[in-house]
Order: sequence, then C-alpha cells, then structure tokens
Amino acid sequence: MPRGGARVLVVGATGEIGTLAVRALDRRHCRTALAGRDRRRLADLAAGTGSPARGMDAYDLQGCSGLAAWAAAALGGLDGVLVTVGVAAFGPAARVSDAAAEHLLTVNALCPMAVLRGAAPVVGDGGFLAAVTGAVVDAPLTGTADYAASKAALACWLGVLARELRRRRVAVVDARFPHLDTGFGARAVEGSPPPLPRPGDPAAAVSALLDRLLAPAAPATPLWRPGPAEQTC
Ligand SMILES: NC(=O)c1ccc[n+]([C@@H]2O[C@H](COP(=O)([O-])OP(=O)(O)OC[C@H]3O[C@@H](n4cnc5c(N)ncnc54)[C@H](OP(=O)(O)O)[C@@H]3O)[C@@H](O)[C@H]2O)c1
Repeated sequence: MPRGGARVLVVGATGEIGTLAVRALDRRHCRTALAGRDRRRLADLAAGTGSPARGMDAYDLQGCSGLAAWAAAALGGLDGVLVTVGVAAFGPAARVSDAAAEHLLTVNALCPMAVLRGAAPVVGDGGFLAAVTGAVVDAPLTGTADYAASKAALACWLGVLARELRRRRVAVVDARFPHLDTGFGARAVEGSPPPLPRPGDPAAAVSALLDRLLAPAAPATPLWRPGPAEQTC
C-alpha cells in the first residue's frame, strides 16, 4: 500500500468519528472516498476535501456491499476501508424492544459486514479493512446487552475474515475504542446509557488508529485497542 497518498473509503463519514477520520486522512495526504447517510453533511465534507461522495443507508445491504467497487472506480484503486457506522440502544436485556434489537444488529453488524464483504476482493494486497467495534466487546456493562451483542457479532466476523485474508497481507482491523467524547450515547434509539467512565479524546483515538492502519508493516493481530497513552478513561 502506498503510505503517502493511500486511497481510503470511509463509510459513516458524516458521523463524529468518521468526519475526524476523513479530515485526518486528508491532512496525511491520503485520498478519500466518502459514504454517509446525512446528505447535507456529506456534501459539505466532500466539498471541503475534494473527495467523491455517495449516500448510503445501513438497511440497503446490497448498496453497502457495492461501496468499495464504487470507491475503487472513483479513486483508481483502493488501499483501505474504514467503517464507522453505528448506533446505540440501552436498557435491561429483558426490556429492549425487538425493533431496537433488530436495528442494532442491522446497523452495527450486518451493514459493516456487507461493506467489508464487498471490499475484500477489491482492496489491494497489503491494504486494510477496518471497522469500529468498541471496548464493550471485552467488558459489556449491564444495560448494554443488545448493543454489546451487535458489536461482538461484528468482532467475531472480523476475526474470521482476518484469517481468511492473511495470505494477501490484508490487515483486518477491529478497532475497540473506549468511551469517547462524541455524544454517541445521547443519540441512542432507545434507553439511556449506564454510568460510563470519563470519555476519551476522539481525535487522539482516531489519530492513533490511523497510525496503525497506515503503518508500513501491519502487526499480525487483527485487534486494535488504544495504547496506554491513548486510554484516557
Ligand atoms: N463514541 C464512543 O464513545 C464510541 C466508543 C466505541 C465505539 N464507538 C463506535 O464508533 C462508531 C462511530 O460513533 P460516533 O461516536 O462517531 O457516533 P456518531 O457520530 O453517531 O456516528 C454514527 C454514524 O453511524 C451512522 N448511521 C447510524 N445509523 C445509520 C443508518 N441506518 N444508515 C447509515 N448510517 C447510519 C451515522 O450517520 P449520520 O451521520 O447520518 O447520523 C453516523 O455517521 C460507532 O460504530 C460506535 O458504535 C463509539
């Protein structure tokens, strides 16, 4: 993968972490293709970075799996994909609605899986396929059962994909961010978050993740957690 000028698709580009990633990639002289749901914020971000952009919705799984081919055509090839799409819902497991549970699994698991499934044959050898899961996979709090289960499903899938793509030296990265100061929990479709630790700095977390994704030789482990310096909560 070319380190300077890497061609990267960011899916969920209009969210807080997605937008931070797009801007940081731009500062690192990478070329980005942007996919996001919020059309106005997507157009603003595309105008600011000069990137090609495409609308997407997590429920359009076929459209999600076609994003990498679109990005490769727009950028003349593809070196990496970062998926930051996600949504929360909270509450005791016995009380979370079936509709919210279905929504979490669609947005947090099926959508990223469809994006990366479509990207696997498109991304160049030595490139990366990454998605944000969260520390909740390792240590789910009470009141997060369905959110944690949706992220754990994605984490499990990423672990298998990593082994399947090892021969091509494609780094499949499961980014297990801690709680970050983006207001994510307040946008939950149902319920309120349980007491959480002091949130970390999202810009620092994104920067550390990009260091990892754009590193010349990707470590063998697919899991990525911030190092002690970035673990701010
Ligand atoms: N913030 C944290 O503390 C934290 C910690 C660990 C992991 N994470 C994970 O990090 C990711 C980004 O979170 P964030 O903090 O940046 O929150 P955010 O700003 O709410 O970003 C969520 C993104 O998901 C998109 N999205 C939600 N539902 C969608 C749907 N049906 N179809 C298409 N896109 C949809 C949103 O699109 P719109 O822009 O259109 O709203 C937005 O781009 C999530 O996967 C989250 O689980 C966050």
